[in-house]
Order: sequence, then structure tokens, then C-alpha cells
Amino acid sequence: MGVELEPVFSLVSRRCGSALSKQQRERIGHLADSLRRGRSVAEFVEHLEAHGQLELLELMATASVHKTDLFRDEAQLEALEEHVLEPLARTGRPLQVWSAGCATGEEVATLLLLLARVGAHPASRVLGTDLSTSALAKAKHLTFSNEAMRRVPAALVAKHFSQHDGRMVLSPRLAAQARFQQHNLVETPYPFSDAGTVFDVVVCRNVLIYFTVDAAERTVGLLAERLAPQGTLVLSAAEPILKPRADLETVRFGGTFFYARRDRVREPEPEPLPPPRPSAPVAAPVAPTRPTPQPSPPARASTTPEEEGDQLFSLVLDWSAAGQPDVETEAGLRKALYLSPQLAAARYCLGLLLEQRGLRADATTEYRRALSLLDQGQARATPFFLNTGRLTTACRLALARVSR
Ligand SMILES: C[S@@+](CC[C@H](N)C(=O)[O-])C[C@H]1O[C@@H](n2cnc3c(N)ncnc32)[C@H](O)[C@@H]1O
Repeated sequence: MGVELEPVFSLVSRRCGSALSKQQRERIGHLADSLRRGRSVAEFVEHLEAHGQLELLELMATASVHKTDLFRDEAQLEALEEHVLEPLARTGRPLQVWSAGCATGEEVATLLLLLARVGAHPASRVLGTDLSTSALAKAKHLTFSNEAMRRVPAALVAKHFSQHDGRMVLSPRLAAQARFQQHNLVETPYPFSDAGTVFDVVVCRNVLIYFTVDAAERTVGLLAERLAPQGTLVLSAAEPILKPRADLETVRFGGTFFYARRDRVREPEPEPLPPPRPSAPVAAPVAPTRPTPQPSPPARASTTPEEEGDQLFSLVLDWSAAGQPDVETEAGLRKALYLSPQLAAARYCLGLLLEQRGLRADATTEYRRALSLLDQGQARATPFFLNTGRLTTACRLALARVSR
């Protein structure tokens, strides 16, 4: 696509956070040409900035990828259910969950099903937001194709869905617990829950993978601000946080990891409170029970350097959001790769870290190396990270992102 459209690409990228790949630029370029109506590029950009909100939204939406399914990444969802949602449900209070970048609603339906399965309070709510109004228009129906339903456990299908015109319709009881709202993650303010509170769980999966490094970093911070104290942020396994953050820490459950909002600065022991008055204002959201992190598996005597590499890589994933300087994360990844050169997942993470440091050429090299191992069937499988199929997709997306 011609360089003359660069100001349009730059505006769209800034407004939706996306690091536009070649294909996305092509799509935006075609649409921009049809929307320009004889205006020069400079005039068109000026128009978009001054009064072209709808056209800009259309341009941003054309760059978006809405690929989604119910029960996408079952291993992560299993851990979310067992270690986060179940303990929260046991508090007996209504839970507030946000699916940020919910596309056509499959993730919202999945979260509603999980909340039902753990016996969450019936007044619990799931908010679904997305940039794209056309995706949200579909999401609101909570009605899905058989293809999107293929991973939903049969017992949940039987209990919560009915068939209509060849599509599967979520029960009105569960659908009533969902709300949808248009929201651009690049813009503030961020939404609150239906109850006017922050959220127990924020799920933002497969969205940041399309973002520029700066937009992703800022978004993670803003999402963390919408978490209840010690609430849980769920990113996809392809979007690990590799630079230390003051606001979040990694919580690891076997092969999956979430991010928990760090405790606010510990206050001195409070004076005993007077007994509550009946007219006391409604309390701020109650802190959910903090999921108990599982300790990393104890180091055992390795028999091969590859196994040592696996163990080190697994540890590095724990360090990254635990405040460890990213030079140490990088050193850890490089050592893991020295021990186990076919650890494509560690190469992918090294690429992410280098990309986050602005070293695009070096990041590209690592993504290419990881992809070449995967394409040649030589990648070492890592049970605690993405499977090879999903890692391949993540590497391709990363390459598209950095090869602008
Ligand atoms: C690949 S889908 C992910 C859907 C779902 N979270 C999942 O993992 O299955 C990415 C979604 O992010 C949305 N998106 C992209 N940029 C966004 C932004 N700046 N604000 C809000 N949503 C955005 C897209 O419209 C798209 O629906």
C-alpha cells in the first residue's frame, strides 16, 4: 500500500492501539480510498480527526480480527475455573467479570457458563466490550454456530443451550447476566461493572497481541486499575508480561499463568473501628479471596540439558511479572535456549522481550527462528506454554506485527 497513506495508517494505529500488519494496511488502504471522496490524504486525515468519528471507527474495525470460539484455550479456562472463579463463588457475593475485546460474544458466553458451573451468585454479571460495533451487534444475540460451540462440554450444551435455525442459543437466564458496551481500550475512561464497582476478574485475551508495545503496556496498566484489590487479570498465553510491573504479579497454576493485582501499599494497623451505623454507605467492592499461587515445581535433578532448559524457561515466566529486571529475564531466556536450542516457546518470548525494548530487527530474528523450528517439526514441546499449533500462530502474528 502506498506510503502516501502513511498518515492515515498512523492515525488508525494510534486510535486503536494496533500495530498494523501489511494485510491490515491493505484493508485500511482500500477502505480509505473509498472514503476519501477526492480529498487529499492530509485533508482526509484532518476530516477524520475533526468530524470523522464514524469513518475512523469503520477504518479501525476493518483492521480488527474477530476470530474467537467458546472455550478457547481450555487449559487456561480450567485453571481459571478451579483456582479463581470457584474460590470467588464461595464468597457468596455477586461477582463482576469483564471480557475486554469480546468480539462476537463467545468469550462472554464461556465466562457465563463457567460462573454457572461454579455456582456463582445469580446476580453475578459479565460485561463484554469491544471496539467493533458490528461484532457487538452479533455478540448481543449470544447465539453461536456449531463450529464455535465445538469445545463446549456436552453437559453444558444440554443444560444451557437450545437450537434455533441451526444455531445454538444461550438460555435467557444466563443471557440476562451479560451486558455489552462499545469501548476502545485505547481510550479512557474505562468502564465499571453494572454494580458500579471494579471487577473481580478481567479477561483480555488475544487482543494485546495485535497492539503496539506502547499501547499494550498502557492498556495492561489501565486494566489493572479496574481490578478489585487482588483481582485477576487474564491475558492469553501468547501475551505474557515480560517486563516487571509495580501493579501486577504473576500467579502460576501448573501450565497456566494469570496476573493478580498487587496489594496496595500496606497501611499501618488500623484503630479498631466503631460498630457500623445502619445508614453507613454501601461499602466499596469486597476484595475477592486471593487465589493461592501454586509453588513452582521443586527443582529436581535434570538428566539432560534440555530438561534443565525447560525448568529454567518455566522459572523465567514466573520471574517476569514478579519484579525481576528484564535484563535478567533476557539472560534467563538466553540460558534456557543455550541449554535447549529447540525451545521455540523461549525463542518466542525472547522475541517479545526484544520487541518490547524496541529492538525490532532482533525480535524478528527470534520470531523467525522459532517459526522455522516449528515449521520443520523440530520445536521442543513445552507442556506449560502454548501448544505448537498456537505457538505457530503467535509467531506468525508477531512477525506480521514487527514487519511493518
Ligand atoms: C481476536 S479477537 C479476541 C476475542 C476473544 N477475546 C478471544 O480471545 O476469543 C480480538 C478483538 O479485539 C477487538 N479490539 C481490537 N482493538 C481493540 C481496541 N482498541 N479496543 C477494544 N477492542 C479491540 C477486536 O475488535 C476483536 O473483536
